[in-house]
Parts: sequence; C-alpha cells; structure tokens
Amino acid sequence: MQRPVIRPRRLRATAPLRSLVREHTVRAQDLVLPMFVREGARDPRPIASMPGVVQHTEDTLVAAAVEAVERGVGGLMLFGIPEEKDARGSGADDPQGVLNRALARLRRELGDDTVLMADLCLDEFTDHGHCGVLDDAGRVDNDATLERYGAMALAQAEAGAHLLGPSGMMDGQVAAVREVLDQAGHRDVGLFAYTVKYASSFYGPFREAVDSSLQGDRRTYQMDPGNLREALHELELDLAEGADLVMVKPGLPYLDVLRAVAEVSPVPVGAYQVSGEYAMIEAAAAQGWIERDRAVLESLLSFRRAGATTVLTYYASEVAGWLRDGLPEQLAEFS
Ligand code: PBG
Repeated sequence: MQRPVIRPRRLRATAPLRSLVREHTVRAQDLVLPMFVREGARDPRPIASMPGVVQHTEDTLVAAAVEAVERGVGGLMLFGIPEEKDARGSGADDPQGVLNRALARLRRELGDDTVLMADLCLDEFTDHGHCGVLDDAGRVDNDATLERYGAMALAQAEAGAHLLGPSGMMDGQVAAVREVLDQAGHRDVGLFAYTVKYASSFYGPFREAVDSSLQGDRRTYQMDPGNLREALHELELDLAEGADLVMVKPGLPYLDVLRAVAEVSPVPVGAYQVSGEYAMIEAAAAQGWIERDRAVLESLLSFRRAGATTVLTYYASEVAGWLRDGLPEQLAEFS
C-alpha cells in the first residue's frame, strides 16, 4: 500500500487558513520606541545614517511621543544628548540636564498613559565617550562608575521614569542602582536591564545619533560576540541583583542568544533592534533591493518568534500606526 503524502501545504491554501494557524504576530503594545533629545536644539536634526530618525528638540520630542502613544506603542526609551560633556558625565545626574528635563516634561504630559523609560549610561555624557568614568590609567573604573549610575538613577526616578535601563555592562550595576532607588523610597521604579549586550559593530549609527566622542571600543565591558554561555551567566546575575525585565542586544545577529535567554528567564525578555539593523534595512530598501515594509515587519516578528516579550525598535511608532490603520492585504500575515 502506498503511504499518503503528508501535506502541510493544506493549511497554507487560503488567507483565513493561514490566519487560523498563525503562532506569532506583531502587536503595537509590544514595541518600545527609542527616542533622542538634544539639548539646545532649535529644530529636529536628522541622523544621516538613520534615515527617518532625528535628534529631537524638547518640543518635537513631546509631539512625537504623544503621537506614538496615541498609536498604541508599549513604551518610550529616552536618550539625551547634552551640549557639554565632561570626564564624569556631569549632565547625567543634573536634574536640569537634557535627559532628566525631558523625562520630567514627558511624565507631566503623559502621566501613566505609557511606560516611560530612560537609558541609564554615561556614554552620551562623557567627553571620552565611555560608559563609565576612567581611572588614572585610562581604564573604565567599575566601582567608581556604579556610584555615578546610582546618582543618575536617582535623578531619572525623580524626573518620573517608570523603568530605568542600565546599559553600561558594569558588574553589579543592577544591584547598585536598586539599592539607591530603594533607599530613596523609589521602590516602584523598575529596572529593564541591558543584561546581555555584545560589543557590536551594529551600534555604528547610534554613535552618530548621540554625537559620541568615543575613540576605541567597549570590549572591556561589553560582551564578546563569540559567547553564549556567558549570556546565561549575565542573566543569572541580573536576576539575583533584582532586574525586573532583561534585554538582549543587538537583535537579529543574536536571535540564538535571545532564544536561549527567553527559554529560561522567569522575567520578561526584551530584544533591541539596534541602529545598525535599522540602517541596513533602510539602505537596502532605498536601493530597491528589499521590500521595506515587509522586511520591517518580518524582522520584528522574528524577535517575537524567538521569544521576546518586548521589542525596542526605531520603527515602533510607524509600525503602530500601520497596525492601528490595518495592514494592507499583502502584509496581512503579520497581524
Ligand atoms: C549605551 C547604549 C548604546 C546603545 C543603546 N544604549 C551604545 C553602545 O552601547 O555603544 C546602542 C543602541 C543602538 O545602536 O541603536 N548608552
């Protein structure tokens, strides 16, 4: 007797069949929009390597944030670009510093209508561009940096951030920040830890986005791209230190790491589609080499399929708009 051919294609035959059996989709509420605000800017400034992304003025930041929230994004992640940088990153914990002012303004405008997050790192604020302060030999001083992070965390919590995103990859940063927050009574401010963050070339356009003055690289604190086991160690440490959510970064080149972390993490897992990933899609689409909107949705879907609860993406507001208005027929498989 001949064996019947098993036909998975049966369930692909019509759009309703495909829709019925679809396992993962993209939802606006899962997307977090990273935003840049520049001190002293009179007009928004385009970022050449990230077409469509700008360094906002305080006013355009508020308008774009309100629009993104109205479209249904899950949250906003804020980065500040100060006018003056110095060795210790003084602007980072100054309540009148660009990031803290913008946070306070957004919290006043948006209240609890969204989840307001802030990057907690010194690199935008230091003249040498490193994520921490340096010792006499020019190395990033872990424990002196933790003190700066504590001060920065306090300023961000007081400005009204709901979640802080420690992203400097210093040892003990989650515990240090948690302790300072708790002692000051900010027990409800959560930590979205950049737990697994690799030293990656895909952050290239971000350096332009924040006018980074970094010479050299971050390989003494960000992770080595060859390592997976170490990601699980970092996860264990951040959980023990009190991370409320954890993140894997970059996204697409590290989907295997995301999957491994998502499989064991007891807390929600974020993935960050970083500046270089955005730039690659934009560059290829501009050449007509890939279909832009489809590539955007497909990349976001891949994070969800790999196990991300939350996706940080520069496409968040745009995609939320598409989803609110209803995706066109030819992109229906993404919602
Ligand atoms: C650190 C930080 C960086 C990014 C997010 N937080 C830069 C870095 O680690 O070098 C990169 C994000 C991106 O490339 O989109 N403040």
